[in-house]
Amino acid sequence: MPALATRIARAGPAAIDEAKAVLTAGGLVAFPTETVYGLGADATNDAAVAKLYAAKERPAFNPLIVHVADLAAARRLAAFDARARRLAGAFWPGPLTLVLRKLPDCPVGLLATAGLDTIALRVPSHPVAHAILSAFAKPVVAPSANRSGSVSPTSAEHVSSDLGGRIDLIVDDGPSPVGVESTILACIDATVLLRPGAISRDVIVRFLGHDIAAAAAPDASGAAAPPAPGMLASHYAPRAAVRMNAVAVAPGEALLAFGPALPADAGNAKTMLNLSDRGLVVEAAANLFAHLRRLDACGAAAIAVMPIPEQGLGEAINDRLRHAAAPRDIAARPRAVG
Ligand code: TXA
Ligand code: MG
Repeated sequence: MPALATRIARAGPAAIDEAKAVLTAGGLVAFPTETVYGLGADATNDAAVAKLYAAKERPAFNPLIVHVADLAAARRLAAFDARARRLAGAFWPGPLTLVLRKLPDCPVGLLATAGLDTIALRVPSHPVAHAILSAFAKPVVAPSANRSGSVSPTSAEHVSSDLGGRIDLIVDDGPSPVGVESTILACIDATVLLRPGAISRDVIVRFLGHDIAAAAAPDASGAAAPPAPGMLASHYAPRAAVRMNAVAVAPGEALLAFGPALPADAGNAKTMLNLSDRGLVVEAAANLFAHLRRLDACGAAAIAVMPIPEQGLGEAINDRLRHAAAPRDIAARPRAVG
């Protein structure tokens, strides 16, 4: 693809206007959200969406999340039952993505939803994301603004290093506060957790008053159609191998620590970063992708990751780490990533 001159603009009224102009012209704009930086394109413009898949090198069978400014805009795209209205009322704007049945006259193109009759919708709470969506006033697809399969971006610098020369504009508003992507909940028949994320399972279960099913795992060959196509196999992966639940460090490994009690041989580590010295999962989520990128840059062959509790945001952190640690042999197994 021909190289573009990617501009980086500090968030503010001029950057919002510029983002709107780029989206209107069918271009690509990376912008901050409360979870991670997203790469936006006009969801109703198939040529713009095709450009986005190409810039990310994302398989076109992996559908995108459609972002809108508010519930009223979302209701023009999908069918909301009482449960979906309640969830949206409680958690929007915020890091919850709802997968719903598309309305027959939904203007979002088939490319954005990968031909499915469902659509993933999200109303972000980040003021800059909200300002861009309000100004553009049309649905915007926004996957994480990284090369497909690699570590998600939580700063403008991360976006620039992955997608510089491939997109038109990056709106910079500093680090993403939450650090892991939105929770994806399907509300079609049963309520199903398709991707653990920034709103923890227990918060949703408490709100609904009943347990929620987890998405069925694909069979061993990876052949089963995954309910959230992006949740298969290798994903969020640094260049280095990732080894989870490490209680010791091999010579030459980098250490991604968690909490105050380090392994006795932590001194073996080529480099060490702590996700949270105090052992807080919320802090760990905010640091996860930036620390993975920094440890990867130190050139270690592997990153040993200390155990992280499954509580609260720990479920989303461990989910991302499992994908980062998954086998990378894309020839041997189908891969759908975001
Ligand atoms: O926090 C987030 O959600 C970020 C920010 C930028 O908003 N976005 C994000 O998008 O994580 P992406 O494209 O990296 O992940 C989208 C996920 C994929 O796993 C995809 O398969 C799933 O959403 N998805 C999209 N549409 C779907 C649908 N109709 N049914 C099931 N899963 C869907
Ligand atoms: Mg992604």
